[in-house]
Amino acid sequence: MPHLIAPSVLAANFGQLDKDVEMLNQSTADWIHVDVMDGRFVPNISFGFPVLHAIQKVAQKPLDVHLMIEHPELYIEQFRAGGADIITVHYEACTHLHRTLQQIKATGAKAGVALNPHTPVTVLSEVIQDIEVVCLMSVNPGFGGQSFIKRTYQKIKDLKALIQAAGSNCLIEIDGGVNQENAPELLMAGADVLVAGSFVFNAANPTQTIQNLKAISI
Ligand code: DX5
Ligand code: ZN
Repeated sequence: MPHLIAPSVLAANFGQLDKDVEMLNQSTADWIHVDVMDGRFVPNISFGFPVLHAIQKVAQKPLDVHLMIEHPELYIEQFRAGGADIITVHYEACTHLHRTLQQIKATGAKAGVALNPHTPVTVLSEVIQDIEVVCLMSVNPGFGGQSFIKRTYQKIKDLKALIQAAGSNCLIEIDGGVNQENAPELLMAGADVLVAGSFVFNAANPTQTIQNLKAISI
């Protein structure tokens, strides 16, 4: 399967969000990554339902909603109603992860689990069959524009082995500090989906930058 590119609108210009989403519609981006932060699970607040609705109105691509919030189980149905196609919760925020994954799937959304940099991939061994996307955080969640953590390469390989051993089709998504330099090695290690925020939106030509990430062949 060719790899997928999921630009993160966290780095978009919120004063003209519709234009930036329209740019993503016209680009070779596959998904639109939407970062929701609550100021508790992570030390930053991004946005909630009104902004998600504004994105949904314009977006013509799947919305990949990354919940960096405590008690995500309280809001799953609302995020689905707001247009989420993939709902990703953090392992570290879910006491009853298996239940929350079933809850996500019951809405018809794809279920994702994100792991913080310090969390080993082995914690997913008992639920990997229930997950459609694992999002490996390659920065500590909470902010765009941080530096990529190199240990991620090995985590991708470990996760790939776990997925293959389980005979699962789960996708590996990498989130944080992704750019044209580290993307080839990430794909080589086994990544399926690359999230990129500041690298795309701070570029002189975001559409071309997305195309360059998409065109990498390994
Ligand atoms: C970080 C978010 C990321 C962020 C990525 O907490 O989950 O999705 O938007 O931004 P960059 O690509 O700038 O690291
Ligand atoms: Zn994210």
